[in-house]
Amino acid sequence: MYSSKITGLGFYVPDNVVTNDDLSKIMDTNDEWIQERTGIKERRWIPEGSDDTSAVMGAKAAKIAIERAGLTSKDIDFIVFATLSPDYFFPGCGIQIQEMLEMDTVGAIDIRNQCSGFVYALSTADQFIKTGMYKNILVIGAEFHSNGLDKTTQGRGVTVIFGDGAGAAVLTREEDTTKGILSTHLHSQGAYADKLIVESPSIRNWVPELMANPKDTSYFPEMDGKFVFKNAVVRFSEVINEGLEKNNLTVDDIDMLIPHQANLRISQFIQRKFGLSDDQVFNNIQKYGNTTAASIIIALTEAWEKGKVKDNNLVVLAAFGSGFTWGSVIIRW
Ligand code: ACO
Repeated sequence: MYSSKITGLGFYVPDNVVTNDDLSKIMDTNDEWIQERTGIKERRWIPEGSDDTSAVMGAKAAKIAIERAGLTSKDIDFIVFATLSPDYFFPGCGIQIQEMLEMDTVGAIDIRNQCSGFVYALSTADQFIKTGMYKNILVIGAEFHSNGLDKTTQGRGVTVIFGDGAGAAVLTREEDTTKGILSTHLHSQGAYADKLIVESPSIRNWVPELMANPKDTSYFPEMDGKFVFKNAVVRFSEVINEGLEKNNLTVDDIDMLIPHQANLRISQFIQRKFGLSDDQVFNNIQKYGNTTAASIIIALTEAWEKGKVKDNNLVVLAAFGSGFTWGSVIIRW
């Protein structure tokens, strides 16, 4: 068995900054409400006329990650792409990356696990490397939320939270099994699927049916915010502890916790619960909003760029989101 190590990181966000004040011009909301409830000050939204999409942003992030890994796209053996906002209903974004980066005809899969998407993607890639099947895997998380949000007052409870962006990691085979990804932990609970959902268009409620029923707005995300919050704080804690216990580690061993950037209040709750200092938890939701499958990888990349993730550090990634799904990744950097 091998270990797998992150050898390259990159992220890309659109230039277009949308502040809370900008949102208050198009819906009944305000900076104070948004900051108090979520910690978000601004987010990036792909502007009209831009060519950016989930796949395009993912490719931009991937180019940076591959270069930083000291590789070329020809060295990549497999692609794992996590998104809930793919360019097409099918095929997935992974195959677009194969084409955009002029890669060999390597395999590509998409992961549809929303806010836990990057953790699931990393775990999937890790299994392929650990068993020796592949040496270098490109793992991408990307979201183009802004085109699918209800930008009227009716949608304000959800729309103010989400941002667009992409991040990518190159995962590489490592002989030293005390380094790299030590373990991954994945969970789901379908009973609460309707608590955070985009129901349509689906094959059950396809475009002709939607068009015939203008009152049906089930193509916008619906969220029971309080219920999501309560479950998130419990599951985040459980799955971080599960990862630590599996590796005979304790909270004192954590050098850096990177939680999915769901909501600053959720991250702060976890930080307090585990007694971690501000230096041990990285948050950037203030600038980018919640970028779902991209949030952890954007945050990890930014933390690493700022020198906050160092050799030999114990890095913990944790996510919770729609499904419900949740998971953690324990890494010896
Ligand atoms: N601006 C102003 N007022 C608003 C807005 C807004 N953007 N959105 C809702 N309101 C109003 C509501 O209409 C309501 O008004 P009312 O009392 O007159 O009916 C009031 O504010 C309170 O609304 P709630 O939905 O009860 O607000 P709450 O305090 O629960 O905060 C929030 C909502 C921020 C979504 C919170 O529930 C939360 O953080 N939940 C966690 C969910 C989360 O983080 N999801 C992220 C995506 S999922 C994930 O990544 C895990």
